[in-house]
Amino acid sequence: MVMSKSSIGIIGTGSYLPEKILSNSDLEKMVDTSDEWITKRTGISNRRILDDDMPAYKMGIAAANNALENAGVKAEEIDAIILTTNSPDYLTPSSACLIQGEIGAVNAIAFDMNAACTGFIYALEIAQSFISTGKYKKVMVISCEGMSRAIDWTDRNTCVLFGDAAGAVILSEVEEGYGILSTCLGSVGEKGKCITLPCSFSSEEDKAIRNGGEKYLWMDGTEVFKFAVGAMADASKKAIDEIGITFDDIHMVFPHQANTRIIDGAAKRMKIPEEKVYSNIAETGNISSASIPLGLDLSNKRGILKKGDNLVLVGFGGGLTWGASVIKWCL
Ligand code: UT7
Repeated sequence: MVMSKSSIGIIGTGSYLPEKILSNSDLEKMVDTSDEWITKRTGISNRRILDDDMPAYKMGIAAANNALENAGVKAEEIDAIILTTNSPDYLTPSSACLIQGEIGAVNAIAFDMNAACTGFIYALEIAQSFISTGKYKKVMVISCEGMSRAIDWTDRNTCVLFGDAAGAVILSEVEEGYGILSTCLGSVGEKGKCITLPCSFSSEEDKAIRNGGEKYLWMDGTEVFKFAVGAMADASKKAIDEIGITFDDIHMVFPHQANTRIIDGAAKRMKIPEEKVYSNIAETGNISSASIPLGLDLSNKRGILKKGDNLVLVGFGGGLTWGASVIKWCL
């Protein structure tokens, strides 16, 4: 049976933030930067950092268990686990499989996917497609990012920006008219080298492509910034146009948290007032694909989201990639 696209939605959320806080004043002691520069140029004050001896996927376990509890679903009821990351512990085994084994999701298929910071939106589309086949009833999406391990802590251009966290959601069929109403995704591969993160067996040429970029994240911040503002506004517009609503019908926007100036610039283009735009970047920094599900979970647990609210989830990131989903909240 093929179900209507609009009847698949989020039935539970979870997240995990490491306890250790790295503040702007801590960073002042590590690189040539200042609290004033970071706050003014990015909006970030603190970020959370994983303990050295904790594998990143363990954050995903905590977020997954948290989402199962929130949804009132048992691990063995999950049919698929899709994990988004660009900072995994291993290329194989996937973080999804490691988590599947440890939480006892014995009936789930499990795999990782990478669309960088847009990963969560891409994964929602995959989860919705899986469920719409009728073969998978309950799908868990986990976004798990140990970005502190991918950063050169001597590079002030990048090390002030990122943090670690995981977020998770469970999707299934929901009441008709609720759930994911539309999703628009895109990739702009010709701009791919704007953000690079080589892996251990990249060619020597690829490893040497950027100064100091042999094993760490490198980016052309200005290029990414220019792309991001337009991409987030355009993606959101495409997703709302597809279902014939306007920004006035939107209760809340959850943008990828990369830089307050990017969020403000995109919101301005969408003519969305500040109070409708979710932001926690001051306390988390950029946690890549985990930023949207973390924001959703914190808002869900704080009772900010009401059943029937129309939400826009919108992101951009490495690849380059972009994507937006419109969701009618059903919890
Ligand atoms: O998740 C997706 C991935 N990434 C992003 O979304 C990042 C998008 N880009 C950005 O958020 C911004 O471009 C940055 C925050 C990365 C940089 O901000 P900016 O306003 O574009 O600064 P800039 O790169 O143009 O640099 C301005 C100045 C430079 O000095 P000079 O050349 O003018 O003397 C930099 O060297 O700021 C300097 N600078 C810093 N100064 C103090 C760069 N990083 C720092 C720093 N502290 N941490």
